[in-house]
Amino acid sequence: MAVKILVIHGPNLNLLGEREPEIYGKIRLKDLNRLIKEYAKSKGVKVKFFQSNHEGEIIDRIHRARKKVSGIIINPGALTHYSYALRDAIAGVQIPAVEVHLSDIHNREPFRKISVIKDVCEQRISGLGEESYLRGIDFFAEWESG
Ligand code: DQA
Repeated sequence: MAVKILVIHGPNLNLLGEREPEIYGKIRLKDLNRLIKEYAKSKGVKVKFFQSNHEGEIIDRIHRARKKVSGIIINPGALTHYSYALRDAIAGVQIPAVEVHLSDIHNREPFRKISVIKDVCEQRISGLGEESYLRGIDFFAEWESG
């Protein structure tokens, strides 16, 4: 069975390309998704995408993914730093998850150094721009073969 991954983009990532491009880059979300999809295909991985600016909608989407996907790649945006509800959702569904960030959250404002979801994720990839997501795909491609 093909590896099926749900890629979740959190709050404000719909504005990718316009939003603080010096930090997050110039790529638009639809182009980022296309890049991820093409890369995933080359690795034999299927991907679905979801973006929301609403914590509850993201949690609902994670719940719906139960028994349907092999893994989740999530850029939770600012929810990373404070959403215990998101952390509990990831822990609760028992789907392996990888936390990704475009920017290097360790080298920005102090509040961004904290991730409340890192302990419920298999891996955290930060600061590689769109490559962060591709390394997330690699993680699951290797996870399945290993
Ligand atoms: C982000 C980093 C977060 O601190 C920020 O709130 C975002 C994007 C990133 O991809 O670098 O919205 O997750």
